[in-house]
Amino acid sequence: LKTEIKASCIQFCPEFGDTVGSINRIFELTTKAESDLVVFPELITSGYEFKDREECFSLSIDVSNSSEFANLIEIAVKTHTYLVLGFPERAGDQVFNSSALISPSGETNIYRKIQLFDREKEIFDPGDEAPKVIKTEIGNIGMMICFDWIFPEICRSLALDGAHIICHPSNLVLSYCQRAMFARSVENGVFTITCNRYGVERRTDRQLQFTGRSQILSPKGKLLAQASENEDSIIFANIRPADADDKKLTDLNQFFEDRRPEFYQRLQTK
Ligand code: ACM
Repeated sequence: LKTEIKASCIQFCPEFGDTVGSINRIFELTTKAESDLVVFPELITSGYEFKDREECFSLSIDVSNSSEFANLIEIAVKTHTYLVLGFPERAGDQVFNSSALISPSGETNIYRKIQLFDREKEIFDPGDEAPKVIKTEIGNIGMMICFDWIFPEICRSLALDGAHIICHPSNLVLSYCQRAMFARSVENGVFTITCNRYGVERRTDRQLQFTGRSQILSPKGKLLAQASENEDSIIFANIRPADADDKKLTDLNQFFEDRRPEFYQRLQTK
């Protein structure tokens, strides 16, 4: 495990439907960031507000058999960067709201959003696997996507599985998440990198305003970096992933050991 890494969060506003343009920008900005890890927003290769499932399907990317995904792997390899980004993932006749972690050796792990927000339920298939922690030389990495923030169970599960860094591609439209992620970081003693987009999309009868303010939080809830509401930004922090192994709060509290799961059994059945 590397002692210290440079982790960046790259906030930008994609042009709806311009997959090639977005991938070119991902290459340009990843190169510029010169980081060990970069996180991009949710659905950054496509934009967010699909008119319907068919439109989403037409902009979706097949991980194992597409030039788009091969290009993304090439970016991670060429820039020697661990790359996390959100994209619409095609798998047979299914389409998921997914996040990829691509390593500099080209190894790929995918998380498919398990908790869909609002009209996403009409567009995407819900994720079909429990989120996993991926062990890497830059730390143990977990992914969650946007609205997953309101379900503390997912971040907790990843932290109990040993995650040091939670990468959180987002397209936030509500105002709570950035503050709520303070709790996710502190209650789990993990780094969280919430990479949000900004800008407006109006493609249906509603207009969506995305809230920017991407942020990196330490396991103690310190705001290490934050972007503004409405501009392209590369924010970064030099972090020590192993800091997230320390769950000590006081001399008498190791807060993971202090848990009393026998009293939380309701969480498994309700
Ligand atoms: C969201 O989950 N994109 C709000």
